Order: sequence, then C-alpha cells, then structure tokens
Amino acid sequence: MKILVTGANGQLGSEIKGLAELYSNLEFVFAGRSELDICNKANVFEFVSKNQIDGIINCAAYTAVDKAETHYKAAELVNATAVGNLVSVAEEQNLKLIHISTDCVFDGNGHIPYVEDFEVSPIGVYGKTKRFGEEYVLNSESESIIIRTSWLYSIFGHNFMKTMLLLGNQRDEIGVVFDQVGTPTYARDLAQTCLGILSRKEKINGKGKLYHYSNEGAVSWYDFSKAIMEMGKVDCRVNPIETKDYPTLARRPAYSVMDKSKIKDDFGIEIPYWRDSLKECILRLKSKG
Ligand SMILES: NC(=O)c1ccc[n+]([C@@H]2O[C@H](COP(=O)([O-])OP(=O)(O)OC[C@H]3O[C@@H](n4cnc5c(N)ncnc54)[C@H](OP(=O)(O)O)[C@@H]3O)[C@@H](O)[C@H]2O)c1
Repeated sequence: MKILVTGANGQLGSEIKGLAELYSNLEFVFAGRSELDICNKANVFEFVSKNQIDGIINCAAYTAVDKAETHYKAAELVNATAVGNLVSVAEEQNLKLIHISTDCVFDGNGHIPYVEDFEVSPIGVYGKTKRFGEEYVLNSESESIIIRTSWLYSIFGHNFMKTMLLLGNQRDEIGVVFDQVGTPTYARDLAQTCLGILSRKEKINGKGKLYHYSNEGAVSWYDFSKAIMEMGKVDCRVNPIETKDYPTLARRPAYSVMDKSKIKDDFGIEIPYWRDSLKECILRLKSKG
C-alpha cells in the first residue's frame, strides 16, 4: 500500500518519515507544502493519480493558534476546505484517509476526560476551523478516520518542549500557567499509531470514525515545564502563574484531557505514559546535538 503523507515537514510528518523504513508493507510519498499544497484541489487529484496513492495521512494544518484569530480565511482554507479536497479524492479513488484533529474542538469546561462523542464547542478560530475539517471526514463515505490529539511535541519543528529548553537556557526563571490541564503527546508515538493502523488488513473505520490519542496521564503546562527542565538538566526556576496573568490572542481550553479507551480497544494499542515519552524525546534531541 502506497501512503501519501501531507504536511510532511511538520512535527508529525517528520516523525512518520523517521519511522517509515520499519513498515516494510507500506510505501511512502512524503509531500511538504512545496510539493503538494492541499488547498489546490486539482493538484491534489493529479498528485494522487500520478503517484498511484492508496492511502493518505493528513499532517498538514494551519497550527498557529494565536495567528489564526486574525487570519480566519487562511486557517479555514487549510484546516477545513483542504480537508474537503482530501475527502473528495479519497471518495473518488477509494483511498484510506487518516486525518489529524485537535483537543481544541472542546471548550475546556469539562472536568473528566472527553470521550469522542462529547459535545464539541471550540472557543477559538483554530478549533472552529479544525472542527469544520472534521465534519468533511465525518460526513464522508470514504474509509477514513479522525484522530484528535493534544499538546504535540517532537524533536522536529516548533513546540512547547523546545521553547522551554531554549528559554530555560536563557533565563534564570520563567512563569508557566498551572490552571490549564491536558496531556502532552510525543509525535513519534502518534506516528507509530497511525502507521500501525494503516498496516492492518482490516478496514480502518470498521468500528467508527473518531478517535482520541495523546500520551497517558494528565498534567498542567507548569508541571510539564518542570519535567522538561528537570529531564533536560536545565537550571531554570519555573514559577506557577494563572492564565489571567499570561494573556494570549486565542483562549485555550482549561481542561483538555481526552479519553483514549476507544483507540486502545479498537486497535489493540498500548499508550506510553507522558513522562516516559518526554524522557525519550529529550534523549533523542540531545543525541541529535
Ligand atoms: N502542534 C500541536 O500542539 C497540535 C495539537 C493538537 C493537534 N494538532 C494537529 O496535529 C497535526 C499535526 O500537527 P504538527 O504539530 O505536526 O503541525 P506542524 O508542525 O505545524 O506541521 C504542519 C505542516 O503543514 C504544512 N502545511 C500548511 N499548510 C499547508 C498546505 N496548504 N498544504 C500542504 N501543507 C501545508 C506546514 O507547512 P509550512 O511549514 O510550510 O507552513 C507544516 O509543515 C495537525 O493536524 C494539527 O492540527 C497539533
């Protein structure tokens, strides 16, 4: 089976690239934005036909959460309209599709882990546009699933872990919010999950379309940051602050922990604890230099 990975130079796309050779039953075509802009429907159809694609993992997205507040059209084009393009090609050419979405479809007012059918109510442009993207997949006849994830980090790209390590090396102390709780996700773990699902012989949507995936556990950004400094051996004091003292353009959900029972049960996967994955990622980052 030949898999197209869109947005291939982002965090998740890069982690999939790094794992690809371990999946000998899958062939890959990696396309960054310059090889394939998913907003261009004609190009998407042409690219898929020319490369004889059987499945797509959509890692492309407009992920600048704050910038999205003032760039609605740009965010909507990538996070929603372009997902419609991928769904159309998947329907017409009988492709499998894994689309990645976000915990930001929830408003964050919950206090127990969200199951897949918990009511969505995004509070920002990023979450709203990602929800519109989900709707294309949910309404599609194609063999497609959505995996919602949260707080993604990796040795590649830009993310909270790398920002903390950078700031920690520049400053003596830093304030991080303790009143937003969620679960970090090591992009390599999510990449493994996507590839494992596509490697199976069964239909990928045999039991449903929506799944949640993050690492195990729940933590505040403050606690996550403390662990990053400790594991990264960075001597920087982390002070707990409240969200009201760290204003951002886009509001963030206060509680965004997701229930992962469904993906574990349906696909028989085990999910690593967030601290174990963070440790592995920081070791990899250090060995990369
Ligand atoms: N990052 C998080 O914390 C987080 C949390 C929850 C869910 N997610 C979801 O997880 C998925 C993967 O996220 P990520 O962190 O790996 O994202 P990322 O690192 O920001 O990568 C996204 C990639 O998509 C590319 N892209 C943007 N517009 C495109 C277009 N029109 N056509 C083709 N490629 C395009 C970007 O290219 P350029 O660099 O050229 O723009 C970038 O390489 C996304 O669906 C995201 O919404 C992320």
